[in-house]
Amino acid sequence: MAKAPRYVCQSCGASHTKWSGRCEACDAWNSIVEEVPIEIAPKGLGGAKGRVIQLETLDGGETEIERITTGIKEFDRVLGGGLVPGSAVLVGGDPGIGKSTLLLQAVGKIAPHAPCVYVSGEEAVDQLRMRASRLGVAHAPVKLAAATSVRDIAATLDQPNVAAAVVIDSIQTMYVDSLDSAPGTVSQVRSCCQELVRLAKRRGFAAILVGHVTKEGTIAGPRVVEHMVDTVLYFEGERGHPFRILRAFKNRFGPTDEIGVFEMTERGLEEVENPSALFLADRRGEASGAVVFAGVEGTRPLLVEIQALVAPSALGTPRRAVIGWDPGRLAMVLAVLEARCGVALAGRDVYLNVAGGLRVTEPAADLAVAAALVSALTGKPAPADAVFFGEIGLSGEVRGVSQADLRLKEAAKLGFDRAFAPKRRLKGRQAARPEGIRVTDIAELAELLGHLGWDDDRRRPGIAAVRTP
Ligand code: TYD
Ligand code: MG
Repeated sequence: MAKAPRYVCQSCGASHTKWSGRCEACDAWNSIVEEVPIEIAPKGLGGAKGRVIQLETLDGGETEIERITTGIKEFDRVLGGGLVPGSAVLVGGDPGIGKSTLLLQAVGKIAPHAPCVYVSGEEAVDQLRMRASRLGVAHAPVKLAAATSVRDIAATLDQPNVAAAVVIDSIQTMYVDSLDSAPGTVSQVRSCCQELVRLAKRRGFAAILVGHVTKEGTIAGPRVVEHMVDTVLYFEGERGHPFRILRAFKNRFGPTDEIGVFEMTERGLEEVENPSALFLADRRGEASGAVVFAGVEGTRPLLVEIQALVAPSALGTPRRAVIGWDPGRLAMVLAVLEARCGVALAGRDVYLNVAGGLRVTEPAADLAVAAALVSALTGKPAPADAVFFGEIGLSGEVRGVSQADLRLKEAAKLGFDRAFAPKRRLKGRQAARPEGIRVTDIAELAELLGHLGWDDDRRRPGIAAVRTP
């Protein structure tokens, strides 16, 4: 039976059963295009018999696949040890964040060992050469092309041993000529990606696709092809900061919680071997509202400064501005401080910032955020030689977090000699505590307040007194 055509909005990707002038899902005009599904079984499933597939066992087959290492350690770690031949990697990020720079550097390093092709739909070959000489990879034997037609690209690459790694920069500039819609629309982006991924699998090269995150965040951006590729990496960072973080969101061949830290310099991206030292470089010792959070990103500990500012609000609804953390979690920590500890923050503007442009996603940052808020409110600096970590529960309890020893070890290494950490440890992780660091166990959030010089007279009436240890 032939499949009915479907009508897909090129702006939001919603699919409709009939054509209309306006998409009901996103209100865009003239964005709906008919997509005719390709027949998988031209004779119909009722007619011809399928071929019997040879079923396999889990344990048989090849041993380790040999990966192509990029020579950029931060990149390799996020990939899970290098590029896997025949796989597809999507590198997403805001325009101008440094995707082309990173990938040109990567192919520049791979090319002396394995053939590499860099196809750009955005820059001319001369521009690419200029960039390469700036990055110091001008003499690497990378093959360049400025092209946007996927048919031409496929014809070029569909030969044995043409390349081990191919960069397509960017997927939004590519088009297949069998579709009417313009490059960058949902159906073009999808079809181009599908075509290139299929080719990569057949010819055994690693395809690295660049995808710009569009203004609206997801629409016709890398999101629409995330399910087709093996690995999705996002390159992020704040415009004004030189630091860039490469984060894995999906990885069929490695962990997804690893990050790679880079610094954008005149000569391209440089790897940051010791991110904690970098993120703490501009720290002023005794300032109120600033505390150090001992975090973990993947397998790596990462110390960052969390800064808070609390000011009387002139507005009916006080402002809560957050950079680098989840606003919902901030609201929760504020509510727990207020309801369980009597720290009155209503009627005050609260600003929270993770210094250095990093985005922290761990709930383990709760305790550090709470300490920064209390210190900002009282104006008393938190101990400058201490790190904080722990997850806060709604009843005010401080919960255990993973890899506590790793966090403590990193803090000790960077010269901190105290830590405020959860009393409860996660099961089975009771390793010896690292030398050289004094750990103060915090079981309840209220206990932390005592250590920060919280004056219990400030307590909002009607709430039980803070227990000072
Ligand atoms: P680019 O890699 O072109 O971004 P994307 O491909 O993600 O759109 O990076 C562009 C920015 O990087 C640009 O604003 C300039 C800056 N840059 C440097 O600071 N140093 C360099 O060596 C290069 C090549 C770029
Ligand atoms: Mg680019």
